Amino acid sequence: MEMVKFKIDGIELEVPKGTTVLEAARKIGIEIPTLCYLKDVNNPASCRACLVEVGPRLIASCALVAENNMDVKTNTQKVRDARKTVVELLLSNHKRECTTCIRSENCELQKLAKELNIRDIKYEGERTKGIIDDSSTSVVRDQEKCILCGRCISTCGNVQTVHAIGWARRGFATNVTPAYDRALSETVCVNCGQCIIACPVGALHEKENIKDVWKALNDKEKYVVVQTAPAVRVA
Ligand code: FES
Repeated sequence: MEMVKFKIDGIELEVPKGTTVLEAARKIGIEIPTLCYLKDVNNPASCRACLVEVGPRLIASCALVAENNMDVKTNTQKVRDARKTVVELLLSNHKRECTTCIRSENCELQKLAKELNIRDIKYEGERTKGIIDDSSTSVVRDQEKCILCGRCISTCGNVQTVHAIGWARRGFATNVTPAYDRALSETVCVNCGQCIIACPVGALHEKENIKDVWKALNDKEKYVVVQTAPAVRVA
């Protein structure tokens, strides 16, 4: 197997060719934050939380393949400032209900904001207007909490091969939604819940209140969930 030799934070490493800097760093216990990356499932290199310094450049380590003689720095002031700005920008377009959010204290964005010592919202501007879709018997979607990491789409499509949700629109209007902006209850969703597990924030969560479950069941599209098997339409 062909190997490459390079350095992370002064530590000399030898890794198989094709290894990313993120994978190599984690193997030796160097923690680099990630939001969009989900090992073997999702790697769009879109969130930029995993930036590292290589020479004069800041590069997303999840998409950076190690090369011979590379000298990577993961914890310089420049890196910390860049990651902080990335998270501040994400927070500038994020629904501000962290204290009451179902994912509070279990949210990857909140955890990273704390680690980066972010104490106020630095950037204010236009905010995405999204919907809360509670039509499903099991999953609630809140688009205004979505950070567009794509982990739910990859999990639903590539892992579960269901393809109930996907990308829509472009630029600031980009969002995650079922095709044609249908309600989740009108899609092929099988209520497996894997998208909820993949979501780093509170944009997807389980329906908690049994009354809401019954309401969804009695609404126009009716599904009964048989464990994780495909949903069975009734009535
Ligand atoms: Fe690398 Fe999102 S984790 S860009």
